[in-house]
Amino acid sequence: MSENLKLQVHCNFCGKNRNEVDKLIVANDAGICNECITLCSNIINKENNDHIRKDKKVNKALDPIKIKQYLDDYVIGQDAAKIAISVGVVNHYKRIFFESSVELEKSNILIFGPTGSGKTLLAKSIARYLNVPFVVADATTLTEAGYVGDDVESIISGLLAASDYDVARCEQGIIFIDEVDKISRKSEGASITRDVSGEGVQQALLKLVEGTKCKVSVNSSKKHPALDQVEVDTSKILFIAGGAFVDLNKIVERRQRGTSIGFNSNNTADLNNGQVTPEDFMKFGMIPEFTGRFPISVQIDELTKDDFVRILTEPKNNLLSQMKFYFSSDEVELSFTAEAVDAVAELAFEQKVGARGLKSILERTLMPYMYTLAEIKKQGFKKIEITDKVVKYNDPPNFIE
Ligand SMILES: Nc1ncnc2c1ncn2[C@@H]1O[C@H](COP(=O)(O)OP(=O)(O)O)[C@@H](O)[C@H]1O
Ligand SMILES: [Mg+2]
Repeated sequence: MSENLKLQVHCNFCGKNRNEVDKLIVANDAGICNECITLCSNIINKENNDHIRKDKKVNKALDPIKIKQYLDDYVIGQDAAKIAISVGVVNHYKRIFFESSVELEKSNILIFGPTGSGKTLLAKSIARYLNVPFVVADATTLTEAGYVGDDVESIISGLLAASDYDVARCEQGIIFIDEVDKISRKSEGASITRDVSGEGVQQALLKLVEGTKCKVSVNSSKKHPALDQVEVDTSKILFIAGGAFVDLNKIVERRQRGTSIGFNSNNTADLNNGQVTPEDFMKFGMIPEFTGRFPISVQIDELTKDDFVRILTEPKNNLLSQMKFYFSSDEVELSFTAEAVDAVAELAFEQKVGARGLKSILERTLMPYMYTLAEIKKQGFKKIEITDKVVKYNDPPNFIE
């Protein structure tokens, strides 16, 4: 290529010159810029995804009992929450799918309770049952439009991507907004980069969760503002908000003490479903309009050590089976004594991060044997038995030929 030609190279797709783009890749007599490469790659990925996910039919078996039974296969405990969510979700989709002579108000769902106890898992499992697109958004990274951070509309583009850019499908999806308790009026410094109050984010979310026509660009590249903009109507999207709401029980306690003077006043508050009122959430720092848009509130219980044992062994894709897979693919059987399972549950319970602790404990316990698995196999061992001593004291497991 002559020196003269090199200076003239431009992107043959969009026509931009070398100095207008970050990168330009040139062949003998043609060029393509980084922006067009991204665009092409998105088109190819989208087509690949279309190929993979053929079954886009929403499951319209809207029977709360069936949903609850499905959830039982994946989520341990939380019976009251499963029932409340199943009913809430069924009513939401009845509102979408069936004509009604009375105008049905939209009811989003708020799930609250200790961390690592199944809030996200419940929402995700319901979406899988219904076969609708699902995304998790983190409320702490959101800002009002115009501030540093993701504006609330970014949630919708996330769901649109999860819908393979099928707008109709997107409009039937579920969005889980996690950590909404961190955008309460009172919470400070949930994010260092955030220069906006939690209250501002709550305000910004109102329209979206209630139902609005939201313009989202299909390509997130800021350099292509003119790229396909599509309009998504959020009025049929189900929003499930989740949060730990630590110390909400103190607010409930205070209220109950205040209203029942003398008699029963020493009772500690019991946060059963129905006991927490919208006023309690407002005292916590949620603005009335926000609370009003999540009229169904569902409480998650703290999981017990016994629940942890069940989580390790019972769900369809339980953690022990997952771990066993990594060994079986090398033709070594992995087994756990009952005491070992108990020890994992016990350790996780002490960590106070809910079921989330289980996986890291298992990983840590098994890591040395995953590392040396090929060697173990070579020595003729067919089975590794994990005892409680392996879990508690890092003792070696039983190697069985
Ligand atoms: N009730 C439960 N039944 C089964 N697994 C659970 C349960 N709660 C939590 N887990 C496990 O812990 C992980 C974290 O749970 P998650 O639902 O994200 O908690 P959070 O309540 O903080 O949203 C899940 O991916 C799952 O493996
Ligand atoms: Mg979560």
